[in-house]
Amino acid sequence: MTPVIRKMLTVDLPLISAIEQQVTPHPWRESQFRESLDKHQCLTMTLQDQPVGYAVYTIVLGEAEILNIAVGRGFQGRGYGRQLLNHMIGLMAAQAERLFLEVRATNAPALALYQDVGLVEICLRRNYYQNDSGQEDAIVMAMDFAGFL
Ligand SMILES: CC(C)(COP(=O)(O)OP(=O)(O)OC[C@H]1O[C@@H](n2cnc3c(N)ncnc32)[C@H](O)[C@@H]1OP(=O)(O)O)[C@@H](O)C(=O)NCCC(=O)NCCS
Repeated sequence: MTPVIRKMLTVDLPLISAIEQQVTPHPWRESQFRESLDKHQCLTMTLQDQPVGYAVYTIVLGEAEILNIAVGRGFQGRGYGRQLLNHMIGLMAAQAERLFLEVRATNAPALALYQDVGLVEICLRRNYYQNDSGQEDAIVMAMDFAGFL
């Protein structure tokens, strides 16, 4: 099955929030997705019209930042996350000069995906995130879009 990537709609939010609760220990609230629909760029990936993944990014003064990206647990490991990320990078590269993101140092799947598509680690923010056992480092990653398109 080939997924479709389109703009996120309000009607997607209950399912997207449910996926978010499933896949991350520190989920966004549904209200954060709702606010992002007004403030940021939001994408939904669907399979047969059902949301299975989503991404939120922002572009300010030529700098893009990924704020959220996820694929529903039952749909992970099928290349959908990579497809969503590459789609988003294509959109961002048309409007921005570089991309930044922050990722939890223990998030091995996301780190591997980001490295695979060409993001590189530029710095470590110690104890940046709270987790159940205290604090956790953030890895800041970047990609330069010069010559990308
Ligand atoms: C990160 C995430 C979006 C990846 O989505 P996915 O659809 O499972 O990823 P893909 O199937 O496209 O895999 C792409 C690459 O990611 C990496 N990857 C994916 N799952 C992995 C795992 N369990 N362990 C290690 N690497 C993994 C691999 O490099 C993989 O490439 P390969 O298939 O050639 O080995 C997904 O794991 C997710 O939703 N995680 C929870 C939310 C999250 O952490 N988001 C990132 C916040 S910064």
